[in-house]
Amino acid sequence: MDFFETLEHLPPDPIFGLNLSFKKDVRKAKVNLGAGVYKTAELRPYILSVVKRAESMVLEQESSKDYLPIDGLHSYIEGSQRLLFGDVEERVYGAQTAGGTAALHIGGALIKQCGLSQIYLPNPTWANHTRIFSEAGLVVASYPYYDKVAHGMDEQRFFDALEKLPKNSALLLHACCHNPTGVDPTFEQWKEIANLMRKREILPFFDCAYQGFGEGLEEDAAPLRHFVESGMQLLVAVSHSKNFGLYAERTGALYVVGKDLKEAKRVATQVKPLIRGRYSNPPCHGARIVSTILETPHLHADWVIELTAMRERIAEMRKGLIERLAQTSDRFDFLEAQQGMFTYTDLNARQVARLMEEYGIYLPSDGRINIAGLNHNNMDYVADALTAVSL
Ligand code: LMR
Repeated sequence: MDFFETLEHLPPDPIFGLNLSFKKDVRKAKVNLGAGVYKTAELRPYILSVVKRAESMVLEQESSKDYLPIDGLHSYIEGSQRLLFGDVEERVYGAQTAGGTAALHIGGALIKQCGLSQIYLPNPTWANHTRIFSEAGLVVASYPYYDKVAHGMDEQRFFDALEKLPKNSALLLHACCHNPTGVDPTFEQWKEIANLMRKREILPFFDCAYQGFGEGLEEDAAPLRHFVESGMQLLVAVSHSKNFGLYAERTGALYVVGKDLKEAKRVATQVKPLIRGRYSNPPCHGARIVSTILETPHLHADWVIELTAMRERIAEMRKGLIERLAQTSDRFDFLEAQQGMFTYTDLNARQVARLMEEYGIYLPSDGRINIAGLNHNNMDYVADALTAVSL
């Protein structure tokens, strides 16, 4: 008997699979614009210097490798909560998770536990969202978000959809730097989204993976804080992969904003078994680094400086790309309105395949570019290739 015979051979992951193809490509002029990982101007991986310093402190002070509590390191949960909400809210329960992905999954499982069966995701959204929520037992549906003709947020269809969603649904929102489009609502639009969701009794679930990569730490948290200030119940999945560069340390958290403290405490008793049954308790190293940085004023200040430099390099690369593209056509002018680590070229899958085959430029088939994969050396090459395949 061959127990595994019926298992199909599946294609590689649409985002991480690109790294393998890129490595195998022997061409000199290849460019990796795939996975959302920050790179330096020399296109090298970047470990923040403040992370290295905090890490030495952690290693020096570490006195135990005992398990963390099921819902993680208290000082991390509290520090991260302050960063997100501006203050430690009484009606919030937070659990440290194995990265933002586990936060989304545990949040999905909690939603299911609440009796909600469906979650609505923006179209388009991060390629992994559908799998995460399906595996949490939810039915995954989508709502219109991006207008491919106007190359911006499809306000009319988005808001119409909100008016019609069945009550008691959950709806996922990208807190800032929408992945993959880079198109975020304005603050006025956020207010209307909150109004409509409150009216329709829809549960907001924020995915906050890029705080600090849009306009700034405070600015990027403003929409989410508006929802909290208006008294709504909601969930937030946070990732510190990007803003602390802790990708491999799986550092994230799930926050559930309840009606009051009593409810938050009740939620905690439900979240812990969900974690325990999946991965028991979270890893500690990344959480210790983040909490050390957030608790130590000079490290905190240095982190903000490094984060600002990352954001500014990305903004500079986006500007450079737009300027070069504008030299030949106005086809890509819409990139200007996008923000965060990604830019959405609106190229189709065939055009993206041409970029890979003819130019060795790697990006997901939806046409998303990781701007941090650009530098002054490859900018012209990428701009020319984008223009050539879009003609
Ligand atoms: C991305 O969107 O490229 C990143 O969030 C990496 C990932 O896990 O897909």
